[in-house]
Amino acid sequence: MNQPTNQPTNQPTNQPTNQPTNQPTNSLKTAHNSDFFGEKLTKLRQILPEIFSEHALDLDKLKTLLGEHIASNERYGLNWAGKSAAYQALQRPTYNTLAPCPDESVDFDTTQNIFIESDNLEALKILQKSYAGKIKMIYIDPPYNTGNDFIYHDDFSQSKKDYEIATGDRDINGQLLKSFKKNSKDNGHYHSNWLNMMLPRLHLAHTLLTDDGVIFISIDDNEQAQLKLLCDEVFGGENFVADFIWNNKYTVSNDTDVSYQHEHIICFCKNRDIFELNLLPRTEKQNKSYKNKDNDPKGAWKPTSIHARSGSANNIYEIEFPNGIKWTAPVGRYPRYSKDTLMELYHQGALYFNKNGGVDRKTYLSEVRQGVTCGTLWNYDEVGHSHGNNEEFSEIIGKGIFNDPKGTKLLKRIIGLSSNKNSTILDFFAGSATTAHAVMQLNAEDNGNRQFIMVQLPELTDEKSEAHKAGFANIAEIAKERIRRAGAKIKAENPDKNLDTGFKVFKLTGSNFKTWQIDDDNAIAEQLEMYINPLKDNAKEIDIVYELLLKMGLKLTATIEFKDGVYWLNCENKSYAIVLNTLSQDDFNAIITKKPSKTVVLDKAFLNDSEKSNVILQFKDANLNFESI
Ligand SMILES: C[S@@+](CC[C@H](N)C(=O)[O-])C[C@H]1O[C@@H](n2cnc3c(N)ncnc32)[C@H](O)[C@@H]1O
Repeated sequence: MNQPTNQPTNQPTNQPTNQPTNQPTNSLKTAHNSDFFGEKLTKLRQILPEIFSEHALDLDKLKTLLGEHIASNERYGLNWAGKSAAYQALQRPTYNTLAPCPDESVDFDTTQNIFIESDNLEALKILQKSYAGKIKMIYIDPPYNTGNDFIYHDDFSQSKKDYEIATGDRDINGQLLKSFKKNSKDNGHYHSNWLNMMLPRLHLAHTLLTDDGVIFISIDDNEQAQLKLLCDEVFGGENFVADFIWNNKYTVSNDTDVSYQHEHIICFCKNRDIFELNLLPRTEKQNKSYKNKDNDPKGAWKPTSIHARSGSANNIYEIEFPNGIKWTAPVGRYPRYSKDTLMELYHQGALYFNKNGGVDRKTYLSEVRQGVTCGTLWNYDEVGHSHGNNEEFSEIIGKGIFNDPKGTKLLKRIIGLSSNKNSTILDFFAGSATTAHAVMQLNAEDNGNRQFIMVQLPELTDEKSEAHKAGFANIAEIAKERIRRAGAKIKAENPDKNLDTGFKVFKLTGSNFKTWQIDDDNAIAEQLEMYINPLKDNAKEIDIVYELLLKMGLKLTATIEFKDGVYWLNCENKSYAIVLNTLSQDDFNAIITKKPSKTVVLDKAFLNDSEKSNVILQFKDANLNFESI
């Protein structure tokens, strides 16, 4: 049996390790994310088979082949203490999974929205198989590393886990609650700690994006420069879209030498060759400059000049229009159009002769682009300011319960610029879930059908905080309550629309299988036990089904129906069967007649070995995908 090891390797390396893993990556018996670089290596092998020796990348061959293109030791890039460990954190598989919580959800059986209560590194790893290449837009608002922030410390080694359960840093399901450490500016690793936290998360986010996908990251000057360089490394400098400046304050504080009035929103896409930002809708203000002074039947228009600053003296002419008005370009200016074109415009009624003898071309509102190009300066009167965002949140949940949330106006701008009406949108530093609120609101406004996935750690609220006093034990509780209340409000305001304001809640939990969570201290005893029953004693069937669903690469929104001893899953119009309990040969025959795309059967569901061999043969004969575990 292939047993994944969860020991971090002792060999420091500046690069991701590229030894292919011995684990069968297509088997459900592997941990999540056990082969993050596997797909990349496969692609590399397709282009450069000669640099592989058996299954491993041969660096010497690569150097020989690409000699002059290999960077010297003095090379451009961002380096920091612990970078190689951050790459190891990226590759380290997770032995955790997600368990459904219908009681905390809204419309669990029908909604396409997801809320995951978990550390985001674990969640992103667990989602890799099901959501790789499926997320159109990611927005994140990570801790800015102001010097007062508590930065999450990733450490998932087993020995530490026991310690953390004992000290209350983890709950008994292995959920990390308090592994935050204050990252003050006088800490020698101030930037490094933050970068170590961000690197693996951004890599995993990159894999989740569709080919035309995009990520927006809010940040301020504390880490803007570091974040831009980190994203250059993860997404490729050529995929930088813009550093949008959000003018988030309308006042200047008089108590310091400089008053910061903006934040950055750094935007990178997966592939700049195919990604384009959407246009912004035209505003009433922009349309106001279009009037209809002469009752033109083509509607409102705005005057544009028919002369320009540059041109050739040879092209200067005088023209007399049929209405007797003569025109020549003013001194120092040149005609923008030829005489013939101007005459044509005259006959179309597209010229306006003003009182001062000037002539303008009419630009009709009906003919301009329906949208406008987005600039990089975002003013608070278009996208809201921090003060207003606090008010917006307070109106729904209460004052002082969550500090400095972003606002729905800002998020609607970002979502509108980057998604289409059916896109899936992910925020894995969800905080108070402004992104979910904005997705639902925008869907209500433009009849969209976007879905959201929120990830938020159940970070404990301080006992003295307003949040705690209001009954919110952790931040995930605040986020879920906001979605519930905002969803109900949006629904009530749009009674005629069929809006999805529900969400399915999932929580991080340890694997339901002993096999995938072996503890090295009693490996032999557990391995023997595992042959008899691979499941943990308290494992709930529906949790096992969701764990298998994720390992099969299916979405968390797949529908699940239990019928005749079989869990039938339906995802993207394909059906899948999961069998956890004993079935007869006839029952297996019934599954075969339904031709599922894949059938997964627990070993213990076979009456005996000969039934197992028969069933395997029958699925093979029927050319159906089958796995027993
Ligand atoms: C700046 S807030 C996001 C605010 C959010 N944009 C809003 O409008 O409410 C960052 C959030 O990320 C959460 N967070 C920090 N580290 C995390 C981690 N490792 N996994 C999941 N959430 C995390 C924090 O609990 C915090 O609520």
